[in-house]
Amino acid sequence: MHRRSSEQSIRQHNTATMQRFGCAVTAFLFLAGLAGETFAQSATSPAPAGPTNITAIMEKAGQYGTLIRLLKSTQVGDQINNQLNNSNTGLTIFAPTDNAFSSLPSGTLNSLTDQQKVALIQFHILPTVISASQFQTVSNPVRTQAGDASNGRYPLNVTTMGTQVNLSTGVVDATIANTIYSDSKLAVYQVDQVLLPLEIFGPPAPAAAPAPAEAKKQKPSPVAEGPSTPSTDATDASAGVNLSRSASGGGVMFAAAAIWLWWSF
Ligand SMILES: *[C@@H]1O[C@H](CO)[C@@H](O)[C@H](O)[C@H]1NC(C)=O
Ligand SMILES: *[C@@H]1O[C@H](CO)[C@@H](O)[C@H](O)[C@H]1NC(C)=O
Ligand SMILES: *[C@@H]1O[C@H](CO)[C@@H](O)[C@H](O)[C@H]1NC(C)=O
Ligand SMILES: *[C@@H]1O[C@H](CO)[C@@H](O)[C@H](O)[C@H]1NC(C)=O
Repeated sequence: MHRRSSEQSIRQHNTATMQRFGCAVTAFLFLAGLAGETFAQSATSPAPAGPTNITAIMEKAGQYGTLIRLLKSTQVGDQINNQLNNSNTGLTIFAPTDNAFSSLPSGTLNSLTDQQKVALIQFHILPTVISASQFQTVSNPVRTQAGDASNGRYPLNVTTMGTQVNLSTGVVDATIANTIYSDSKLAVYQVDQVLLPLEIFGPPAPAAAPAPAEAKKQKPSPVAEGPSTPSTDATDASAGVNLSRSASGGGVMFAAAAIWLWWSF
């Protein structure tokens, strides 16, 4: 505002050339601002690091090749490492073995969209660290990173008897076989079955596996890949990305409006 009024007085002896110059400067400042914003955002997006490396933990444990591949292809592995580095609440991960994956009906994983693969992996992650003894006191359904358990879309129930811990999704019943890793921020447990969420594998759409063309069409990505149309059906993982995309969109509109104002005077 201040700049505007001072420029108003200057403008009286301004030539058209000066106006053009001012307009260019304004546009440049807005665009430079946007570029700075974008750079800051990409600087905070998944940089695989931190003291804990989930891939390294799973590699060391052996027999988790399929899970490791999914952690990579969905980028959830990077999200896990970032969360472990940046949050205080920790994580619990249920890790199905390669045997668990290979005992799924053939084609199960291939029938999933990219978004469903992300949800499947996030369903195996709890947003707090739960020690083996704490399973006895959790209240059902527990919340996973795939989303809200209370509306019935991604419920996961824990039942215990002594040291035995079972997990039920409404589609499969699994047993925790082993503790793979445990520290103050991360607990990783071996499970004997892939935890198939009701939302994806439950009725009434068990046979309604999306057609390949359909699967290609909706292709959400958990990472930013430059400006594109914000998608409203994105998962939790990409919500932040979409927000920042619309913020950039707003910035562009604002810059355009500012340029228009300059010219119209
Ligand atoms: C995590 O571990 C994997 C497997 O050992 C390795 O390829 C990757 O570079 C590691 N990531 C980081 C950030 O150290
Ligand atoms: C890990 O967290 C620390 C403290 O918040 C931060 O300074 C560092 O850059 C983070 N490292 C990575 C690789 O995200
Ligand atoms: C866990 O599951 C196994 C096998 O399905 C079953 O035999 C056992 O009773 C269950 N235990 C609990 C605590 O639910
Ligand atoms: C999970 O537990 C809740 C609360 O006890 C119950 O209402 C629900 O039916 C259970 N779901 C499954 C799949 O076991």
